[in-house]
Amino acid sequence: MAKVVGVVAGIYILIRFVQPPLPFSLVFMYMSLTVIGVLVYVSIYDDVWHDFTLPIEEFFRGRADRGAVWKGIRLIVLVILPLFIGWGVYNKVKPSYNPPAEQRVVHPAPPFEVTGLNNPLRLRPEKYKDYIKLGSKVFFQNCFYCHGDRFDGAGHFAHGFNLPPANFMDAGTIAQLQESFVFWRVSTGGPGLPAESTPWNSAMPKWEDMLSAEERWAVVMYLYEQTGWKPRTWQ
Ligand code: HEC
Repeated sequence: MAKVVGVVAGIYILIRFVQPPLPFSLVFMYMSLTVIGVLVYVSIYDDVWHDFTLPIEEFFRGRADRGAVWKGIRLIVLVILPLFIGWGVYNKVKPSYNPPAEQRVVHPAPPFEVTGLNNPLRLRPEKYKDYIKLGSKVFFQNCFYCHGDRFDGAGHFAHGFNLPPANFMDAGTIAQLQESFVFWRVSTGGPGLPAESTPWNSAMPKWEDMLSAEERWAVVMYLYEQTGWKPRTWQ
């Protein structure tokens, strides 16, 4: 009996020491095979099987000639085992009151004043290069820590935030939006999100406090230029 327990425990510890750690399902599989193998081994000969089951039988039947400690352990096991199983079953069947996953509006309607805005910098195509240069300066001074130098939302700080910073390469962000909407999001950030977008806990700063309107329009233009997306228009 002690040998069997020793072998199973030894293999379990060995498996748990494997690096990188094995997934639970694999550990479960190996351990099931180990237990089956050991059971096959001890059940081949009658006398081995008898040696193996005797301590278990004695334990559950109880023997008068054992000391008080043994009796105590036996009592604890007999009481705790059913309680433990009952607790497990209770946890499985008890209804869950967790609220369903939150519904969030990812791109909420912007305030009315924003919807008609056009990027004023686009009216001066001869200065396009200068504006892109300004936009890149703004981006690498302010945005890439979160949104990443590849515009994929994987900046150094990105791991710290839930919601993650927007991935501008993804077809679901600026590719779907008008420049005025993006400008509004850059200007008002997380604090500017309306009620239907909460709880958002967005870390996106409110850039209108820190950047001029020209800088904000320029960085928006730069994002479209770098990602290759075209801003949505009404036409
Ligand atoms: C502190 C981290 C952080 C910095 C710095 C940051 N952002 Fe963000 N940004 C976020 C997070 C988080 C989101 C996603 C949540 C949201 O939409 O508010 C986001 C969202 C956005 C969106 C919305 C995209 C969409 O699909 O609605 C735009 C546009 C944006 N950021 C532009 C910028 C620009 C431009 C800068 C630099 C001037 C910048 N961000 C700097 C964290 C940051």
